Amino acid sequence: SEPSPKAADLLVWYDRHRRVLPWRALPGERPDPYRVWLSEVMLQQTTIAAVKPYFATFLARFPDIEALAAAPEEAVMSAWAGLGYYSRARNLHACAKAVAAAGRFPDTLDGLRKLPGVGAYTAGAVAAIAFDRPEAAVDGNVERVMTRLFSIEAPLPGARPEIRRVTQALVPTERPGDFAQAVMDLGATICTPKRPACALCPWMAPCRARAAGNPETFPRKVKA
Ligand code: ADE
Repeated sequence: SEPSPKAADLLVWYDRHRRVLPWRALPGERPDPYRVWLSEVMLQQTTIAAVKPYFATFLARFPDIEALAAAPEEAVMSAWAGLGYYSRARNLHACAKAVAAAGRFPDTLDGLRKLPGVGAYTAGAVAAIAFDRPEAAVDGNVERVMTRLFSIEAPLPGARPEIRRVTQALVPTERPGDFAQAVMDLGATICTPKRPACALCPWMAPCRARAAGNPETFPRKVKA
């Protein structure tokens, strides 16, 4: 039977293969919470390739959260135009006003959750990536990685609480922000929906779906 997965093995892989992304701090740099939050909101229903030019334009127009808070609603909506899901832009603007009024960016999961439109995913991602808090950030990529790693047979959406538990249990106290980004990169580049590159995976040995030979069958989904 398989050994348990170790966060440290994923972090060694991440140190070698981390993707360079405009919102991602370089090793040893402190991440900018504004950029991390903006990127996580943009990436929710949109691919990295589509987000990149919008992220650059948005930052040029609104370089920090105070600038975004002070901008007229129409200016924010016009910078978002083309990204879709416009409630994200309205929530973003409302968040910026709340943070500017409070004078500081919330740096805990609970503080982040209280911001307008910030759900479990965004709060976990910002808490971990921007503030190095040991929180889980579970998106579709992470669901795929975890259901395969632990061979979680229960279908989505019912399996979500269990996926959250196993993910949270893996989060290391050292480098939780890098861990969150490493799981996302693993899901995007190795643990792909079709033909996952298991031979290159730092979690090949502990992966229960790999051992069973059926990684592509995860995550299971309730029939439509
Ligand atoms: N998808 C959503 N957030 C991401 C991040 N921080 N890095 C890579 N892919 C992501």
